[in-house]
Amino acid sequence: MAYLHVSWLLILVHILILVAKSKAKVPAIIVFGDSSVDAGNNNQIQTIARSNFDPYGRDFPGGRPTGRFSNGRIPPDFISEAFGLKPVIPAYLDPMYNISDFATGVCFASAGTGYDDATSDVLGVIPLWREVELYKDYQKTLKDYVGEGKANEILSEALYLISMGTNDFLENYYTLPNRQSQFTIKQYEDFLIILARNFIQELYELGARKMSLTGVPPMGCLPLERTTNIMDNHGCVDRYNNLAMEFNGKLKGLVAMLNKELPGLELVFADAFNIFMQIITRPSTYGFEVVEVGCCGTGTFEMSYLCDPQSPCTCRDANKYVFWDAFHPSEKTSQIISHYLFKMFLAKFL
Ligand SMILES: *[C@@H]1O[C@H](CO)[C@@H](O)[C@H](O)[C@H]1NC(C)=O
Repeated sequence: MAYLHVSWLLILVHILILVAKSKAKVPAIIVFGDSSVDAGNNNQIQTIARSNFDPYGRDFPGGRPTGRFSNGRIPPDFISEAFGLKPVIPAYLDPMYNISDFATGVCFASAGTGYDDATSDVLGVIPLWREVELYKDYQKTLKDYVGEGKANEILSEALYLISMGTNDFLENYYTLPNRQSQFTIKQYEDFLIILARNFIQELYELGARKMSLTGVPPMGCLPLERTTNIMDNHGCVDRYNNLAMEFNGKLKGLVAMLNKELPGLELVFADAFNIFMQIITRPSTYGFEVVEVGCCGTGTFEMSYLCDPQSPCTCRDANKYVFWDAFHPSEKTSQIISHYLFKMFLAKFL
């Protein structure tokens, strides 16, 4: 008799563990941001900010250029895989996919965009408000596909990845006169923080609860910025790296504030700056041979259409390069950073 009771108890405990596990599991990864996370939405719009041609994607499954600014996969793909979901997150505008794919992961990001609508205007890409409109459209389609109850469960249990900001500074503020005449750099940072706050709050109101916000990378060490840093012998531009740290600090403060203000919100600041900086300062520790220039072409300025499929300079093995083009990390760098972010900040959602 007692033996029977114990086995029933064990079964009950097992069931409880299974229930707890299935409740904690992330059913989908939903992505917002810029080229650091765009899976190819820009292929479907009129813009020069695209990469759906060789040599982009040459190390992607099937050697296919998808519109990812990489030789292979990008962070949302690796993070999705780490959660036991599919190894590739499709772009919402990509006609190759439909709602049966998007139900477990979808990307609304657009290369060249930022928190500031004036940034998306520069290259005519998808502004952040429009990424949200696409997300609302996705919510409707998902409800039609799996039913209202199940859809609401997916939308509230999903992990939302948010990554942008670099273009607001480098493509907009420091390149064009408009924002500079309106704001000092510190005022512009604070302006972006307000836009980030409004965006996260809107996602929350639409049902999102688990979110990961990634700040900006060591922008001063991007090969393109080194190329123009002639005075400093093509070293990293300290001014941009310091700005990145300052802005990330403000984002971190925003995250703490929003977690207090919005009940049930689990927002983490998935800080990639330090791991990225470690890779840049000690590349050989991670198996890299080149950090100053990208793999594509001369590696000093090429990206998007300038990354020429015919260029004889393009490197053979992108795994030896920290950067794939003059502005974007190689697949291997993205993989190292993603695994670090998963372990340090995201595994708690498992
Ligand atoms: C999605 O696409 C797959 C294969 O391309 C197809 O079999 C399926 O019917 C489509 N599903 C919906 C809901 O449109």
